Amino acid sequence: MPKDIDWGSLGFGYVATDKRFVANFKDGKWDEGTLTEDATVTMSECAGVLQYAQTCFEGLKAYRTEDGKVVCFRPDLNASRMKDSCEKLKMPVFPEDKFVDAVVEVVKANLDWVPPYGSGATLYLRPYEFGINPVIGVKPADDYQFRIFCTPVGPYFKGGAKPIVIRVSDLDRAAPHGTGNIKAGLNYAMSLYNIVDAHEAGYSENMYLDPQTRTKVEETGGANFIFITKDGTLVTPKSDSILPSITRRSLCIVAEKYLGMKVEHREVLLSELDSFAECGLCGTAAVISPVGKIVDHGREICFPSGMDEMGPWTKKLYDTLTGIQMGRIEAPEGWIKVIAE
Ligand code: PLP
Ligand code: COI
Repeated sequence: MPKDIDWGSLGFGYVATDKRFVANFKDGKWDEGTLTEDATVTMSECAGVLQYAQTCFEGLKAYRTEDGKVVCFRPDLNASRMKDSCEKLKMPVFPEDKFVDAVVEVVKANLDWVPPYGSGATLYLRPYEFGINPVIGVKPADDYQFRIFCTPVGPYFKGGAKPIVIRVSDLDRAAPHGTGNIKAGLNYAMSLYNIVDAHEAGYSENMYLDPQTRTKVEETGGANFIFITKDGTLVTPKSDSILPSITRRSLCIVAEKYLGMKVEHREVLLSELDSFAECGLCGTAAVISPVGKIVDHGREICFPSGMDEMGPWTKKLYDTLTGIQMGRIEAPEGWIKVIAE
């Protein structure tokens, strides 16, 4: 039974739930890992994560479906992306199959925290790993901790499905050949100054461009872009320095296979933005958040879909993706992991 909470008024925040998973890497190997009620982490003042930010994370959600099951969406892809992140940060990989098992364990141990079907809220899971032993010379840690906690969340952007206004950023998020394509904590630390500045200036997010030429669209601080052309083609920016969003990759399949749309994954120029009919931000936290307007210094790009509601193609993509996640629409093979019947 879901807890007695006002699910509809939840924002995207942290609420401590009953149990979380913890595994330790010591003496060159992972222990079995266990669930714990202890929501705190104790570590050396000199831990690698505190000195040199040796940490990466993932984000995925558990949903209550229309027919009362609890499921999560493509956790194997989070496991595989976390492997990529760990390898690039010289961290030991928590085995992918055990990652998925731990996701299942955490959701099962917190079933009452999975929001009711139709409430607008979901259970967000945050797997993460960090270097925990003392490190003072610049080198990888020897010991690591892998954890997964979960927290019930509402919409990432205030207003939910209302179109947002974003700005073209003057600062960069990820260098070419850098760490933009992994989920390293450092990428987000880098974006904090700029997101606070954007919010103070009245924008919901920053559109980052490719740092080398500043002519191509990359992504925002926490989501990939989708664009829809006037003739209904889904266009997603291609770059080696953006995070390969699981939502975006899933939407491309949904667009093609469920909605019969043409799909293009290619470089997107800043100069072509005003030719698109619709724009959105996609990600686990954001789901699909429609963008009504992009401000590029003096130039305003206002999408024909307007500032009141999602454009028609974005809505179809949103309804189909969330329909698959909530069990209203049949999912492609392997997308849904059933956790409780
Ligand atoms: N881009 C960034 C920088 C992100 O932090 C996220 C969130 O995970 C995404 C894109 C969306 O990725 P996904 O759809 O896998 O959640
Ligand atoms: C997610 O969508 O899961 C993320 O990790 C984005 C984060 C900025 C909340």
